[in-house]
Amino acid sequence: MCGIVGYVSSAAANSADHLALDVLLQGLGRLEYRGYDSAGVAVVTEGGELAARKRAGKLANLLDAVTDDPLPDARTGIGHTRWATHGGPSDDNAHPHLADGGRLALIHNGIIENFAQLKRDLVADGVEFSSETDTEVAAHQLAKNYRATGDMTEAMRVTVGELEGAFTLLAVHADAPDTVVAARLNSPLVIGLGEGENFLGSDVAAFIDYTRRAVEIGQNQIVTITPEQVRIIDAAGAPVEGEPFEVDWDPATAEKGGFPSFMDKEIHDQPQAVADTLRGRFGLDGRLQLSEMTIDETILKSVDKIVVIACGTAAYAGQVAKYAIEHWCRIPTEVELAHEFRYRDPVVTEKTLVVAISQSGETMDTVMAVRHAREQGAKVIAICNTFGSTIPRESDGVLYTHAGPEIAVASTKAFLSQVVACYLLGLYLAQLRGNKYNDEIQLILSELETIPGKIERILEGTKQQITDFAIRHKDEQSVLFLGRHVGYPVAMEGALKLKELAYIHAEGFAAGELKHGPIALIDEGQMVIIVVPSSRGRDSLHAKVLSNIQEVRARGANAVVIAEEGETEVEEFASEVFYVPETTTLLAPLLATVPLQIFAMELATAKDLDVDQPRNLAKSVTVE
Ligand code: F6R
Repeated sequence: MCGIVGYVSSAAANSADHLALDVLLQGLGRLEYRGYDSAGVAVVTEGGELAARKRAGKLANLLDAVTDDPLPDARTGIGHTRWATHGGPSDDNAHPHLADGGRLALIHNGIIENFAQLKRDLVADGVEFSSETDTEVAAHQLAKNYRATGDMTEAMRVTVGELEGAFTLLAVHADAPDTVVAARLNSPLVIGLGEGENFLGSDVAAFIDYTRRAVEIGQNQIVTITPEQVRIIDAAGAPVEGEPFEVDWDPATAEKGGFPSFMDKEIHDQPQAVADTLRGRFGLDGRLQLSEMTIDETILKSVDKIVVIACGTAAYAGQVAKYAIEHWCRIPTEVELAHEFRYRDPVVTEKTLVVAISQSGETMDTVMAVRHAREQGAKVIAICNTFGSTIPRESDGVLYTHAGPEIAVASTKAFLSQVVACYLLGLYLAQLRGNKYNDEIQLILSELETIPGKIERILEGTKQQITDFAIRHKDEQSVLFLGRHVGYPVAMEGALKLKELAYIHAEGFAAGELKHGPIALIDEGQMVIIVVPSSRGRDSLHAKVLSNIQEVRARGANAVVIAEEGETEVEEFASEVFYVPETTTLLAPLLATVPLQIFAMELATAKDLDVDQPRNLAKSVTVE
């Protein structure tokens, strides 16, 4: 949450001769998914003039502001797009915040926990505040330390030592027209390396249009960039080497590619995302090889419990993992919301394997849960989509999902690729531990290879039917989702998508739970979407779910069904059936989720809502 970008260049050394404002606005456009309550920029000219513009609302408002009141040409600057924490989304609370008589500008991602005390001290010193944010405290504190030290890097180092919380800070000063200083403490920050120009960003999307050469930096480190140099120091002031890496995705993958929204594009990216998650995982003998996962095999063989920690959609991927891993590996598997995990004194030992699932790799709740698990002696495997982010860096092993950048705030392709990565992990553990389901495992591995083609079929064959249905039902006030076994997390994910995108009351239930209470919600016309398990599936679940459909219909519900092709008997009970191709029971979420994503997106679109940037949300939740 909050996107930050920093840029420096020199006209002499940078043949492309970029202006800071252009680079900052381009970067903010790429980062807007991280927060869109307000946006702002500050630039410093070669002559040492600092100028800033900021506006509440989306980036478009800032673009109007710099058009109406242009900034001077400059090659150094910082830019920010905000997800509000302290102080509502107003012009005053927008970043950058100015200090030192308007000669210093600072932007911030995260939370400064001791801001109230620092503010009292600054006010007592005669400092006047013009916003309600914690960020402005950091700006004035940095200015105070700059006056004391005469050096922005040293001032930033001292300031970071005085602040408590989790934050990334970027600052410029009129006295140093070719310098941006930054600090990272438990919030994301990455460096981009150019020729005669250097960049800082919350993630590589901030500078992907200019360079793919990037450097990871660690926690509690200070970075100073000039056009020719990047310097990193630790909290004690000692030099530190960053870890260079090449960004492996193309800027085009972060474009809409002709689709009306990023979400639509990302739903259509899913066959590729699933294929990319599977790619390179199999040896010549057909056995699974998870080379990125650098945990010793003897440790994995001795694991006696698995705990999956994650939030939101990623936690639903974890729920699917539970069914699969327990069945294939016979290892007890729990799924816990990361923000609950460390506050309830969980039983975690050296034989516990913790699986942390996170698209962004920066979700603070999950970061803190990973740290807690490791402190208890557990080994942690991250399932993550963002290379070099905090969660994989702090874990013992990682399985990257390789889904490519996910820009729409609500997760789609990242979810499917997380589910696939969980399957791979479960199958790998089963293979390693010699579990008894060898034939089934081989079958699942070959079935997984067919999934991209089957998702393609839903997108080509069923999408229009779902769109038409969603348009007809755009005024729905409440939708319930039912599922059993792996259909249960699918139902919860379907409900979450509808809440997030269409702002409709939606709830996902385990179908068996219906008669224990939720059935009281069913009234004439209540829409209930039921994920029907395959009739070839486990025991009598299929028949049980058909009974559940009858139960809701008997009470007047409008029953809508997701079923496998060939399950024609459901037609007699349902007002609408969305068919998905057949697959094995445990893999069914990879197909059954897709119609629910399309339904939520199309219904929100029919209500004229912004499906890429739903209200109040941000892509990467970097505060607890
Ligand atoms: C919902 C959604 C969120 C995220 C959750 C965790 O569509 O995207 O629920 O799944 O905030 O985010 P990551 O996976 O980045 O840790």
